[in-house]
Amino acid sequence: MTTTETRRRLRDATKKSWAEPWKIKMVEHAHWTTREYRAQCLAEAGYNTFLLRSEDVYIDLLTDSGTSAMSDHQWAGMMLGDEAYAGSRNFYTLEAAIQKYYGYKYIVPTHQGRGAENILSQIYIEKGDFVPGNMYFTTTRLHQELSGGTFVDVIIDEAHDPQSLHPFKGNVDLDKLEALIAKVGAEHIPYVCLAATVNLAGGQPVSMQNARELKALCARHGIPVMMDATRAVENAYFIQQREPGYGDKKIAEILYEFCSYTDGCTMSGKKDPLVNIGGWLALNDYEKFEEARNMVVVYEGLHTYGGMAGRDMEAMARGIEESVDDDYMRSRIGQVVYLGQKLLDWGVPIVQPIGGHAIFLDARRFYPHIPQDQFPAQALAADLFLEGGVRAMERGIVSAGRDPATGDHRYPKLELVRLTIPRRVYTQAHMDVTAEAVEETFWMRDRATGLRMIYEPKYLRFFQARFERM
Ligand code: F0G
Repeated sequence: MTTTETRRRLRDATKKSWAEPWKIKMVEHAHWTTREYRAQCLAEAGYNTFLLRSEDVYIDLLTDSGTSAMSDHQWAGMMLGDEAYAGSRNFYTLEAAIQKYYGYKYIVPTHQGRGAENILSQIYIEKGDFVPGNMYFTTTRLHQELSGGTFVDVIIDEAHDPQSLHPFKGNVDLDKLEALIAKVGAEHIPYVCLAATVNLAGGQPVSMQNARELKALCARHGIPVMMDATRAVENAYFIQQREPGYGDKKIAEILYEFCSYTDGCTMSGKKDPLVNIGGWLALNDYEKFEEARNMVVVYEGLHTYGGMAGRDMEAMARGIEESVDDDYMRSRIGQVVYLGQKLLDWGVPIVQPIGGHAIFLDARRFYPHIPQDQFPAQALAADLFLEGGVRAMERGIVSAGRDPATGDHRYPKLELVRLTIPRRVYTQAHMDVTAEAVEETFWMRDRATGLRMIYEPKYLRFFQARFERM
């Protein structure tokens, strides 16, 4: 097939409807409830969707984390778990899969992403350091702060504008990074954290060109680039679809090249790698790897299991291989786009372009009459559950937390509600029902009221905070 033909085939493929490259073998029942019952559930949960019981939720779009359906091949692998305390066969299978698809040299398994973030932060960051990143992520930033560092946002400005149609809103603004290096000195920047895709910007991707240029800039200053690779396969899909020169390449090839511009990664295996638990830290620097491998025994478990069972590592190794399949990823993101397009057609304000793992409702435009300190996105997530039994997540002022220096709320520009799509779990009909619930909530928006926070935990408050209606 000539290059032109391949390109045409790919272009046509994006126009045609997609279907999942799998069929369903087992189902789990989900129950519809009454509005009255849901109102009671919400009051008991303090208007925080994290505090609802899963069995009271009809369509659960709280997160794509650990909520994937595993394949029969993964389940078969679970039976091959080698549950030895040390040197489990499954660890070496997992290590080989990460080396093959992500290309890093040394792997430290962890129980999930934040376990890897903890170790990375502790071995790299010293008190007074600055850690630049393309937008914060909640747990990532907290570990940087607990290690004595200060996070500095160096994402391009477009990322903070929900209506900007920039194709790579996850990109690092290299001028902002250069200005930071000039101001604080490269010796106070232990690494740059590059998230691909960027969760809190709306699942927005980073371009290959940006990663390449970032690596070149950092190399000049001797600063490593550490990737948050949680959704790097989804990022690779967007590069294939949007970046000139990559339309003919396989997602696996794109992922491998992207990782080559970074010096290591943290990974929440609960997303791209299609498992319910697990993660890892990968490094190319042997000395740092030795430090990390020593530290993992303090926090997670021995360096050949890091908090995972042998069967979990086997399932993740198999999940990695399935995750880079082009047809799978096309249907994965095709489903997200299907939901998003429906909402756009109905005039519902969402973050654009549509991102990889979720649709983000823009609560500022949805509930313009609710001021940010009355938690509009938190209120919207609660209302959506009330109207449609759909569980979503706040990603606004509650998630942003307080500034450790001043103790004031951080006021993020993005005040969003995330409808996160689990992988291989829901059908297109579930997306229709979700869209209808959002639309109904949108029609009743004038009646919505804000919330008052009545309980606020010290760390990562969005998980456990409680509210009441104003
Ligand atoms: N980095 C990113 C970009 C994430 O989205 C997450 C988790 C983590 C790190 C932490 O990984 O949960 O395995 O410890 N995100 C989930 C979410 C919780 O719902 O977005 P973890």
